[in-house]
Amino acid sequence: MPPQFIAECLDCGNQFPYSPHTLACPKCDGQWSEARYDYPSLGWSLPARLSQRPFDLWRYRELLPIHDFNTSYCMGEGGTPLVHAANLGMMLGCPHIYIKDERQGPTSSFKDRQAAVGIASLKEHGITEAVLASTGNVAISYSAYSARAGIKLWAFLTSLVPAEKMREVAVYGTQVVKVTASYDQAKKVAAEFARQRGLCMERGTRTIPSVEAMKTIAFEIIEQFTAVIDLEQRPAPLLPPPWSVPDWYFQSVSGGLGPLGVLKGFCEFKQMGLTNRIPAIACIQAEGCAPMVHAWKQHLEVAEPVHSPRTHIATLATGDPGRTYTLLYQRMQEAGGFFESVTDEETFRAIHILAKMEGFSVEPAAAVAFAGLIKAVRAGLIQPTDTIVVNCTGHTMPVEKMILGEGWARSVDMPAKTLAETPEEGILAALRGVTAERFPRIAIVDDIPEARRLLRRILQSQGDYTIYEATNGREAIELAKKELPDLVILDLMMPEVDGFGVLDALKADPNTAHIQVVVVTAKELTSQEKERLRGQIHALMQKGEFMSDELADEVRALVK
Ligand SMILES: Cc1ncc(COP(=O)(O)O)c(C=O)c1O
Ligand SMILES: [Zn+2]
Repeated sequence: MPPQFIAECLDCGNQFPYSPHTLACPKCDGQWSEARYDYPSLGWSLPARLSQRPFDLWRYRELLPIHDFNTSYCMGEGGTPLVHAANLGMMLGCPHIYIKDERQGPTSSFKDRQAAVGIASLKEHGITEAVLASTGNVAISYSAYSARAGIKLWAFLTSLVPAEKMREVAVYGTQVVKVTASYDQAKKVAAEFARQRGLCMERGTRTIPSVEAMKTIAFEIIEQFTAVIDLEQRPAPLLPPPWSVPDWYFQSVSGGLGPLGVLKGFCEFKQMGLTNRIPAIACIQAEGCAPMVHAWKQHLEVAEPVHSPRTHIATLATGDPGRTYTLLYQRMQEAGGFFESVTDEETFRAIHILAKMEGFSVEPAAAVAFAGLIKAVRAGLIQPTDTIVVNCTGHTMPVEKMILGEGWARSVDMPAKTLAETPEEGILAALRGVTAERFPRIAIVDDIPEARRLLRRILQSQGDYTIYEATNGREAIELAKKELPDLVILDLMMPEVDGFGVLDALKADPNTAHIQVVVVTAKELTSQEKERLRGQIHALMQKGEFMSDELADEVRALVK
């Protein structure tokens, strides 16, 4: 079979056939190479082929470094959903946020793509034993695929990896080696082990199949975005290029394999003439281990390693990104974007927001990207009209104790049955303590359905309230007179009777004059309008500028 791709040395440009055994360029001994394909011919032939194939990673097989892929150990990798985050978008004032839900891979992280392609490559080169170092998720994914493909795997895990993840690796039958040191040191130990035993090692951004696998995230996003944005009402699966691209791609970053591969994917579709631009890339690191962010902020092309990472988020603990950072730095000059860091606290808060507002339970390494998005929106780096895709890379794990605090569950104590009691009486008595009989009553007044949905969700998830909704000012006045809520959450800009009109009507009626009002508005208020509200309302919150817990705290304090 003719080679569909060739390895190209990043130092001297020499092209040579790829083999997992070739660790360096045969001409200059350079360690870094990348796969190249016949882009002009693929740009012409790929769209028609795509329209015939299922939505999984292998639909892009002509752009992957595998010659004859064997479906017998596939597990449905790739083809993950792109989900609109309506509540989060509403809360942040950026309605076009989409989540690339990589939790839905076979072992629930985006590393499944890397393992699927990596193991396929090892298999087609007849390799039956391999080594890797990991902060957890790579080892889990590789272990699952190794089990299916008949490859013996050695996983060197830094002792910072949570015990649950380590055990999961072991359950798959992988040989686990715990290294009581940083991840960077674990990688060195693993490399020496592989060298001594003559075994192939997964080397992240220096392993061609790993980078190539990550490209498929970009390919899928482009296809999904083209459908979301251009295809809304049109059934035709194949639109003529150029296809659509989001404005931003957000990703949590440790070694940088994710953004490097995804960026290559966006570039290749552009090179093939299927798109005409690439998104800006936002790389988010944990503040306690953010060598790339430090370098980026000082406009440095080379990152200074962080020797002792200080973060709870062990998954992201690559202290020395090496040349990967330099490649990202150079390529992002053209693509645009930035590196930013977030604290563990911001990350834990993002986990909680994502779970409560969007129903997404994620591990800290994934939440780092969302915390970065929140920070970037707050800093004005993102425009409200921008389209954003966030890679939601990892599954949940025991972080609940970090985010829930005390009192997160109510308990029902079933008393020992007395002779006189029926079973129903016993249950009723036990339930009496669960919650109050009457809840504070809150009316949400907003003409935008998504805004009502967000406000309702904030209240539901953080307290016991009876919630009413009114979709315009006139309905709001009627509702207030009839239900006499304890508090009204009031939008200002509404058709017919606006928020000011509602406020006037409530104050004019002695029955409703006492009702507390929190104004939540997208309106930039003039000084005259502020004067009109003075003394009439209990709080003023700007839409897109408050987080769910801030509004919940305000409401809780008022209706206590
Ligand atoms: C869930 C999750 N997010 C992000 C990363 C960062 O990966 P990268 O090495 O691609 O920067 C990892 C790495 O293991 C991960 O497991
Ligand atoms: Zn070379």
